[in-house]
This record gives sequence, C-alpha cells and structure tokens, in this order.
Amino acid sequence: MNTHFTLAGIHLQLKRWPTDTDFVNLQAWDAVDELLLSAALKRLASNQLSVSQPVLVLNDQFGALSCLLLARYPQLQLVHVSDSLVSQQACKANLQLNQLPTQQVQWLDSLAPLPDSFALVLMRIPRDHGYLAYQLNLLGAKLQHGDQLLVAARARDIHKNLLLLFHNTLGPTSASLTQRKCRYLQTSLATPRHAPQSDWPKSWPLEQTGLTLVNHANVFSGERLDIGARFFLQHLPTTEPEQRLVDLGCGNGVLGLSALVANPALQVLFSDESAMAVASAKLSVAQSLPALLEQCTFSQDDGLSQLADQSVDWVLCNPPFHQQDTITSHLARQMFHDAWRVLKPGGRLRIVANRHLPYGQQLSALFGGVRCLASQKKFVILESERRK
Ligand SMILES: C[S@@+](CC[C@H](N)C(=O)[O-])C[C@H]1O[C@@H](n2cnc3c(N)ncnc32)[C@H](O)[C@@H]1O
Repeated sequence: MNTHFTLAGIHLQLKRWPTDTDFVNLQAWDAVDELLLSAALKRLASNQLSVSQPVLVLNDQFGALSCLLLARYPQLQLVHVSDSLVSQQACKANLQLNQLPTQQVQWLDSLAPLPDSFALVLMRIPRDHGYLAYQLNLLGAKLQHGDQLLVAARARDIHKNLLLLFHNTLGPTSASLTQRKCRYLQTSLATPRHAPQSDWPKSWPLEQTGLTLVNHANVFSGERLDIGARFFLQHLPTTEPEQRLVDLGCGNGVLGLSALVANPALQVLFSDESAMAVASAKLSVAQSLPALLEQCTFSQDDGLSQLADQSVDWVLCNPPFHQQDTITSHLARQMFHDAWRVLKPGGRLRIVANRHLPYGQQLSALFGGVRCLASQKKFVILESERRK
C-alpha cells in the first residue's frame, strides 16, 4: 500500500483503517482530498482567513484532510465531524503516526450540534444524499455572509440534482471544470435563506408486524426494508429466554428488534460503527417495544472490539460490503472473527449473504463448519457454531 502522501511540500505517512487488511493497492487519500486541500491552503495562506477561528472538516475519510491542515498550521482549531467511528479512529491514528497535535481537535459525531462560527468549511460530499441534505441544513443554520465553504467530490457524483440541493439549501451553486476526475462546488450564500428544515429522523412501519423503524439520515436502507434483511426476517433463530444476542452492524435495529418480538426475555446488544445507526436502533426499540428498552444496550463500536470474549449466545449480521466508496469483503471478515471471539462455546453466528460472496468458505475456515439454512435467487442464510 502506498502510504506516502505529499502535497504543497508537506510529507505525511497515511494509512487506511483498519490497517491489517488486504487493501494492498489502496491509499488513505484520493484526488478529492488533494483538490480540497490545495484550495484550503490557498485560502489560509492568502490571509483572508484567521487561523484562530475553527476550521470545520466534514466527512474526512481516513484523516488526510485533518492531518495535512494540522501539519501546515499546528495552531489550527480543527473540528472533525464524522458519522463513522472508523473514520474518526483512522484520523486519530494518522495524527499520532505523524506526531501531529491532537489537543485542539474537537471530535464531533454526525448528531452533535456544529460550533457557532468557523473560518472555513471543508466538505467531502458523502455517498448518501439524505445525509448530505441533513449536513447542508446544519451548515445552512450556521453559515454567515463571508464564510468560506469548500466542497468537492468525484466528477461522476456531481449532477443536476445535487447542485439543486445546494442551491435550495444554501444558495446559487456552480461546479468547477473537472480536474483529475473531480470537481468542486462554489456556492454564494443566499441571504436571507429559508429556515432549515430537517425531515430526519424518519419513521416507517415494518409491514405485518406493528413495529416502527426509525432512521437518521445516514442509516443503511433508511426508507424501506433491505431485501437481504427481508429474507433474514423469515429465518431468524429460535432463542431461549434470557440468552444474549448481538445485532452486529445493526443499522436501524431491524434484526435485533424482530428477535426481541419473538423472545421478549432476550438481552440484545445493538452495535454499529455509525453514530446515526446506533441512535436509530435505540429510537426503533423505544418506539416499538419501550417496555424492553432496559434489556437492550447500544454501542458505537468498530466490529465488537468492546465486547468480552465468550460472552454471548447469538450474533446476527447482515454484513456491509463497502467501506465508503470501496467494495470490500474485509469488514465482513473482521465481523466474523469478532463474532467467533465473543460467542460462548455452542453459541452461533447467523448471517444473510449475497450468494455470490465467498462468506461460506470464510465461515467454514474460521468456525470449522457452516450450514446453509435457506437460499433463494439472490441470498443465502448461513450459520456457524463455535465449538469450543
Ligand atoms: C448491510 S448494513 C445492515 C444494517 C441492518 N442490520 C439491516 O439489516 O438493515 C451493514 C451495517 O454495518 C455497519 N458497519 C460497517 N462497518 C462496520 C464496522 N466496522 N463495525 C460495525 N458496524 C459496521 C454499517 O454502518 C451498516 O449499518
């Protein structure tokens, strides 16, 4: 993996996260980071901006934006905003790797209020446009005339609807010409702007169950049931009273919640690396089964890193197949390892998987066996038991 990042005469070592993957050819930064950083360094150098005012960095993937800004301006007050715990951990690790200052970085998750004023905003456009609209609404409430907003994305992700979203939320917006397959946006803040409106979190009924699912903006399958999850719901395990079950990568909590309906004496941990997912799962349980909230715990975690070995009876998982923009199987593999570690002997991992993915072989190698419980055209339900 190339870890040597150089820009504007500054050399850094940057790693993706987690570091022990087979991402041999992938870097921890891309041309979008480079475009944003070049523009930001120009603005900061031109003395138009005061480095004593915070710089807001939204959706920094592995810390390239934050690390380079702090390498150039070690006194900078930087506010790092991310929904992803993994991105936050990557940024912290890369700051440490390059011996960069961390004490003046404020770490905010996606649900935290933004600071009242800032000198500059750097934003990578997130994959999910509901989440983008949510972030633009937050920014719209804070940005003032003269504030500087730098936004960039891959050229293929910038289109008419996206410009319209910026236009409607912040003001007239145009896109630059394409440079190295990326473009940045220029927005003139309209004054006055419409009062920001957020229609998140959204709630919808889970058909034929009486349950309500609640979703914040950046949650997987936020407005309807995922087709893999739908198949999984037909094949949930029969659990014993007071067993402990983990909904790993819980999203809005649909799997754990449904397991609780079948067995109201179950103890359930809802776990996800996304702040919005964990908050959504909690809202889903609070709305659908408020009396059972006390036997549920909610954790923002990378995999199950905070959970003790051999402590649970069941893990249910609809594994992720991409990290940010990259399709990958390493997250699923990491989750299977974590599941094996936290399961008691005799405990079981049950997953839904796209049938073309090699999860069966991976589970068989790790657990010493795997059973296919059900299959249809697109998905399979697989189960492995921890033997000792
Ligand atoms: C395919 S979605 C499944 C969501 C939900 N369980 C469902 O079935 O609708 C995968 C989930 O894994 C989460 N995830 C991705 N990487 C993770 C990690 N390293 N640790 C924990 N959760 C992760 C994502 O945020 C996402 O909510």
